[in-house]
Order: sequence, then structure tokens, then C-alpha cells
Amino acid sequence: MIENKDPVTLKIILIGDSGVGKSSFMNRYVNHRFTNMYRATIGTDFFSKTVNLGGDTVTLQIWDTAGTERFQSLGTPLYRGAHCCLLVFDVTSKASFCALEGWRKEFLVQGEPQDPSDFPFIVLGNKTDLSGREVSRRKAMQWCEEIGAQYFEGSAKEDRDVEKPFVRAAHSGLQQYKKHTLENTGHFQITCKQPRESRNTCEC
Ligand code: GTP
Ligand code: MG
Repeated sequence: MIENKDPVTLKIILIGDSGVGKSSFMNRYVNHRFTNMYRATIGTDFFSKTVNLGGDTVTLQIWDTAGTERFQSLGTPLYRGAHCCLLVFDVTSKASFCALEGWRKEFLVQGEPQDPSDFPFIVLGNKTDLSGREVSRRKAMQWCEEIGAQYFEGSAKEDRDVEKPFVRAAHSGLQQYKKHTLENTGHFQITCKQPRESRNTCEC
């Protein structure tokens, strides 16, 4: 459990090709709404949601980015300080899945996370309500194993498995926060449940 007086805010960022449903997925999770109308995200938006994680109340600051290249003007500052990154694709579009490797690399270059090999990525396949699937669960999971990411899939339209990836992102983001952000700000104070004699790494 965190014994930190400042409220914890976790920055979760969604990236991926245009039209895969990043805004729709976020809108479904935060506002419980969905529309068939497509309005490309311009620049970036962020929304906040408070969640309880095993006794810790944290605020998720979810950043929805533009997949269209001509709107990707913010680049570096946008990715910096993220605690978890969701790589989103459309399960009916192989191209959107193949593009994720590029998105991931771009995130690592621009976002400069402290420990790139350990940074938490979550891969999210959207639009499972549609027929004509081009990317199987098996194929997606195979790539996730290669890059050490977790895989989720669902449908923003049908409100199918929308919460799970965000809950996972919150947990992974919190771990990242405890590991890096608290250490760097000098507020590293985590309650340990181990007996006192085995507490050799934290200041309890
Ligand atoms: P950019 O902002 O351009 O990067 O796109 P985006 O990734 O935010 O996509 P957006 O959420 O705007 O969705 C694009 C289109 O896909 C819209 O017409 C949505 O209604 C549709 N869409 C999103 N999610 C789903 C889904 O789960 N199923 C189906 N069938 N359509 C979806
Ligand atoms: Mg969008």
C-alpha cells in the first residue's frame, strides 16, 4: 500500500493507427458511451478516472492520441512520463496490427522511459464484434510474448471486455510509478508486510 500524501496520478497513453477505435474504447470506459460516427482525434485529449486498486486510490489520466500522421504534432512531450502504454489495433485490420511495432519503437524513442526493456506495454485488439477478422488471438499473443506485453481484446461498440485492459494498465502503471516516479521524487515510502528483519530495501 502507498503511504504517500500526494494523490497518485498515473499517465496511461493510447496509441495506434487512425480508426482502430482508441477514442471509442476510452469513451466507453470513461463515459459509458459509444457512437458509430467517426471523428478523428485532433492533437490529443485526456480524461481522468479514479479507481481503487487494492486499497490505493489512484487517478488514471488517460491520454487519447491522434492516429493520423498530420495530427501527430505533439510528439515528445506527449509520451514523456507515461506509466503504461496501450498499443491499440483493429482485429479486422492486419495492417493496423503490423503497424504496432512502429508505434512501440516510436514510443520508446520519444517517450524515453527510464528502463525501456521493463516498460509496461499492453496490446489491445478492438472491434471483436465484427466478422472478417484478420488477426487471430493466437497471432497477437505470440507477438506479445516476443515483446513482453500483455494481450487483451474486446469491443467498444458492444461494451465487451472494455474494463480489463484499463485495470491491468492501472496495476502495471502503479508498479511503474512505485519503481520510478516515487524513487525520483524522494517520496519512496511503501508499506511492507514482511517481518522487520527482512525489510532491507524500503524505508518503512
Ligand atoms: P483517430 O482519432 O483518427 O486516431 O481514430 P481512433 O483510433 O480514435 O478511432 P475511433 O474511436 O474514432 O473509431 C473509428 C471508427 O471505428 C468509428 O466509426 C467508430 O464508431 C468505430 N469503432 C470503434 N470501436 C468499434 C468497435 O468496437 N466495433 C465496431 N464495429 N466499430 C468500432
Ligand atoms: Mg481518436
